[in-house]
Amino acid sequence: MKLLKTDPSTSTEVFSRSIRSLKSILVTGGAGFIGSAFIRFCLTHPHFQGKIINLDLLTYAGNPDNLNEIRISENNDRYFFHKGDILDTSLLHRIFEEYAVDTVVHFAAESHVDRSIISPENFIKTNVNGTFNLLETARACWKDTGGKLFHHISTDEVFGSLGETGSFNETTPYAPRSPYSASKAASDHLVKAYGHTYNLPVTLSNCSNNYGPYQFPEKLIPLLILNMKEKKKLPIYGDGKNVRDWLHVNDHVRAIGKIISTAPDGSVWLVGGDSQADNLSIVHLLCKIFAIETGVEPEELTSLIHFVKDRPGHDFRYAIDACRIKRELGWKPLYNLEEGLAMTVRWYLSNVQWIKKIQSGEYMNWIKDNYAGR
Ligand code: NAD
Ligand code: DAU
Repeated sequence: MKLLKTDPSTSTEVFSRSIRSLKSILVTGGAGFIGSAFIRFCLTHPHFQGKIINLDLLTYAGNPDNLNEIRISENNDRYFFHKGDILDTSLLHRIFEEYAVDTVVHFAAESHVDRSIISPENFIKTNVNGTFNLLETARACWKDTGGKLFHHISTDEVFGSLGETGSFNETTPYAPRSPYSASKAASDHLVKAYGHTYNLPVTLSNCSNNYGPYQFPEKLIPLLILNMKEKKKLPIYGDGKNVRDWLHVNDHVRAIGKIISTAPDGSVWLVGGDSQADNLSIVHLLCKIFAIETGVEPEELTSLIHFVKDRPGHDFRYAIDACRIKRELGWKPLYNLEEGLAMTVRWYLSNVQWIKKIQSGEYMNWIKDNYAGR
């Protein structure tokens, strides 16, 4: 296994050739998994000089601890946090005006497919109405749209499910099949419609499955790692043959950096990791890595694999053809899956306090104590 000598997440070229000012970026959902990685990426990047306003409701998935590194860094004077809802129009207007927001990078969403199946309502509220609210605010507040940008973060799930062959690209028709993916598809259509109808400067990216540090342990990879740690069963839906394309979160946020810096208004980008694997291969690979890292016998771990009832409407396969972003923006994924997973396992093994808080009521108390009334 080839190990990376340096963390490739901060390629210096990303912001240095920017065609936009990026002086004041409103990040929605910046306390979540990918949004917080994006904020850490920007504020530790040598060529990013702007400020970041993080608007996050701190739902169960939002965790201010994901940004501790920034709060204690020398760049904390360029970081502003507001606890709030993207459904709150007057708050959005206040933030746009107070900070002279020139760029929106919109991550905030309900993001877990299983929750959307059990309880879809919040997915429509946040993902559809919330995106609509943000677009309306940008339309109202940006009288002059020169240098402005609304970048929408979306998912490959809007394209539906693939069979054994083929991949999604920028021309693939939409065919969402879960309440989550339908809500994201609706938000994508709104973003594109605001670009066409009102000339709002928009860009959009549809990305494959992310993994890496700080991911809430309801998603497959952190769930498996924490269950291995606790010697709990490793639940695999159906026969485990469903395929996902895995991308390290640092590669994703670097792609977003490239897009907001250099992509033309109105453009759409598919972002993927060139790392397709079925769920059974993922669990076996994680068992192997976990065994190397901890000295636990691999057989002890694989004996925990447990096939459970399938997810209703479970999409069989997603795959991304990322040729366009590679060719036109010079981006490519830098992590290979095995080394990225090994780094992720090590992160979850060493960040005991983060996990303890997530798994206890202390985390919710911390939010109350620190953010009450803001
Ligand atoms: P996440 O669930 O970890 O984080 C979502 C964040 O949004 C949380 O911090 C939450 O508090 C916040 N939020 C939720 N509702 C809000 C509201 N009404 N107002 C303000 N903030 C609110 O999600 P993630 O995995 O980081 O995903 C971020 C974005 O990327 C989502 O739009 C998701 O659809 C998309 N995406 C995710 C993946 C993936 O693999 N995780 C892949 C492709 C695209
Ligand atoms: O493709 C991008 C999408 O990836 C994002 O838009 C979503 O926000 C993100 O949650 C993710 O969706 P998935 O449904 O693919 O991710 P999840 O980690 O929930 O599941 C990955 C695969 O593993 C999927 O085939 C279901 C399966 N699975 C999941 C869990 C939680 C299991 O087999 N067992 C489990 O316990």
